[in-house]
Amino acid sequence: MRVIIVKDYNELSKAAALEIAETINNKMDCVLGLATGSTPEGTYKELINLYNDGKVDFSSVTSFNLDEYKGLPADHPQSYRYFMNKNLFDHININKNNTFVPNGMAADIEAECADYDENVAKHGGIDIQILGIGQNGHIGFNEPSDFLYMNTHLTNLTQNTIDVNSRFFDSKDEVPTQAVTMGLGGIMKAKRILLLANGSNKAQIIGKLVEGKISTNVPASILQVHRDVTVIVDESAAVYLKKNIDKRLNIVE
Ligand code: PGA
Repeated sequence: MRVIIVKDYNELSKAAALEIAETINNKMDCVLGLATGSTPEGTYKELINLYNDGKVDFSSVTSFNLDEYKGLPADHPQSYRYFMNKNLFDHININKNNTFVPNGMAADIEAECADYDENVAKHGGIDIQILGIGQNGHIGFNEPSDFLYMNTHLTNLTQNTIDVNSRFFDSKDEVPTQAVTMGLGGIMKAKRILLLANGSNKAQIIGKLVEGKISTNVPASILQVHRDVTVIVDESAAVYLKKNIDKRLNIVE
């Protein structure tokens, strides 16, 4: 696991966008794994800037998002499909037919989940997976639990996630209690993973992710055994990182 510590959110967003743009420039028809939430918003803004400056071309790119709330239609302002269109897809030259977000309205959720994984495989797998991390250690909506799930599945959101995400809704009661999420097996199959975290409210979980034990109670900790993970954090999210920090390179190996 490679950890890059940058000064602030602005630098984090720029560094992440450059990594993604480089991946696309090296493989025009690459497959991106995308995330929603506050963390990647800045990265998507920077990607739009790079696109506007002619530095990246999304015309052959395919994307798969990690997750979607159950019961929210695509045109609901808090659905993740809506988020992706608003924050990225509407501003770049990606073919929206090549952008996939789980359908939280599917009548047959099990079939939707199986089809989603099959579709990722059909496209040759994910070249670079962007991840945020929940304060409780979730990635996608893989919540702390006794079990970890391999495949895309329907999950119950923990009270912590509902509380944290209620900031986007008018009231806590409106936050869906279930979501469709890629499983940890699917995430671990990505060829490269780029996990982003900023702010002091992520400091503790970043400490556990990088230096803690692998545990189903910290689902993100499984990433320690992935062969190509880069974690980009700002200084506030890095305060609990102690071991082997090479201050010069700002890299933890
Ligand atoms: P955030 O969410 O980017 O809004 O902090 C991250 C997550 O819950 O995975």
